Amino acid sequence: MTELSGCLQTITPMVFNFSDKLDLPSNSVLWALEMFSTYLSESDMQFRDLSPKIDDAKLSYFDQKDPSSFEQFKLRIQTAQPTHGSLPLIDLCAGDGSVRNNADWAWQIYNTHFSEQVLKCHPMGSYLRSTLWMSCGEHRYDVHCDLFDGFLFHMSGYKRVRVWPVPQKKREIIVFNHSDFEGRMASEPFDFELKPGQILFIPSGAMHEVISLGKEPAVSVSFHLGSPFPLPTLCIQLNKMLQGGSVSLPPNMNSINKFKMYFFEPTRFISETDGLNEGMPEDLYKSLTEVLQSKNISENTMLALMSSWWHIAMTHQLYQGPYPERLPEYK
Ligand SMILES: [Fe+2]
Repeated sequence: MTELSGCLQTITPMVFNFSDKLDLPSNSVLWALEMFSTYLSESDMQFRDLSPKIDDAKLSYFDQKDPSSFEQFKLRIQTAQPTHGSLPLIDLCAGDGSVRNNADWAWQIYNTHFSEQVLKCHPMGSYLRSTLWMSCGEHRYDVHCDLFDGFLFHMSGYKRVRVWPVPQKKREIIVFNHSDFEGRMASEPFDFELKPGQILFIPSGAMHEVISLGKEPAVSVSFHLGSPFPLPTLCIQLNKMLQGGSVSLPPNMNSINKFKMYFFEPTRFISETDGLNEGMPEDLYKSLTEVLQSKNISENTMLALMSSWWHIAMTHQLYQGPYPERLPEYK
């Protein structure tokens, strides 16, 4: 376990300094601009109209299909106007995925610092998304939270990241979604002023807001890792295992909107004493069966079903990712 991977599934945001062994691009601003130029159509680029009050500055988006968008983006970056761009570099799930050209060094970072511990923390399989972020001109990336533990490698320029640790009350909820931003911001926030060479750990579910500071372009690469399990996917898998009867979600829990969809984190229930061959941990079983609607399934069948699912999930890399739409059969 490295210093960084020791943060996986912990709850306190914190900053680290890069170790000497990282093999990063020598000029990260040039590298980032090249990536946006090459992969314009797959980037997400936004900017704010200058306004006397930054909070009122309206958010607009570049047209990624228009080739001239890159030059406009670059000009705004070079003249320090509020601008922001992001581009996925690595997308890996269920043993399948891709690493973008010129982002091999990010894959190296994952392999060196995270892969071993990720396997231990997430025996059912996990999702990895690495993303390039470039911003400048006091651009504010709106407050939100992510489903995954996040590590932000900050390479150039300056940014302030305000992080609200997940309140205890929220951490105790077993079947959760991320719709209650206000409740997630009930904790006292931490402000991190990131300098090049630092890495910020943001725990999954912790609200955060990012502002680029000063005139230099801010370049970072993030790694998001975890195995939050969508309830719609659980239903699909349970129904495949059933011979007769069915399980479903109540209508108010059926949304697949990224902040409204419901999840649980099975790997938070793995403890040394459980062992992988035991049935589903009791707390998790209770919380899931409280929300799942079952038709023509006896209590005993439900118990056996959930036990089998748990056993398969923990021993066969069952995880298929956080987005049910990846599954063709999901409607
Ligand atoms: Fe985020």
